[in-house]
Amino acid sequence: GDVVALVPAAGKGLRLGYDEPKAFVCLGTDSLLTRSVDGLWASGAVDRIVVIVPADLLDAARNHVGADVLVVAGGDERTDSVRAGLAAVGDASIVLVHDAARALTPPTLIARVVAEVRAGRSAVIPVLPVVDTIKSVDLMGAVVGTPDRASLRAVQTPQGFDADVLRRAYDATTDVSTDDAGLVERIGETVHTIVGDALAFKITTPHDLLLAQALL
Ligand code: C5P
Repeated sequence: GDVVALVPAAGKGLRLGYDEPKAFVCLGTDSLLTRSVDGLWASGAVDRIVVIVPADLLDAARNHVGADVLVVAGGDERTDSVRAGLAAVGDASIVLVHDAARALTPPTLIARVVAEVRAGRSAVIPVLPVVDTIKSVDLMGAVVGTPDRASLRAVQTPQGFDADVLRRAYDATTDVSTDDAGLVERIGETVHTIVGDALAFKITTPHDLLLAQALL
């Protein structure tokens, strides 16, 4: 069946500090959006791509991707954007969700995620060990807990799902989340981790953009 990649690119990217939304910022000669879409095609593991952008940038986005990519309008929260993309997918057996902001993700990582879902996992996410100790804090900044670092992982994309499982997860909630796999956990499905890649880091801050430029 069809493997469809959703590319949420409707964030404002305020932390990057540019006037234009983050996905439209250039890294070398190409935008983050163009690079992310090119990486998905290069994996050889994806049949269709749907990108989700701010409603006022539908036409602009079409200049950043080929005519073979479907462009739809996103929403205020990432969850809204993914939901809009999911509604545009139609028939699919596997759905990937891949942040436009992870523009340097190796195509081989994308192919590994798809292979794991094909092998029967209903949800697959790339992860890396956490290098810093992580604290939980309250609203005043006082520490309320220190989870054991050895059991923590930082989550990347693409996240891969059996299409029906991801649809059920989104149908089951109206909550906002920054993580699709988290919604799948809530409906009782097991989420499987695979080893991620440092190059799949999310370009969020000016520091990240400098790093990405250096890595080009
Ligand atoms: O804000 P954050 O960096 O976590 O966003 C991750 C990805 O989700 C980005 O590619 C961003 O464009 C996308 N996003 C979206 N719609 C939103 C917010 C974020 O598509 N409303």
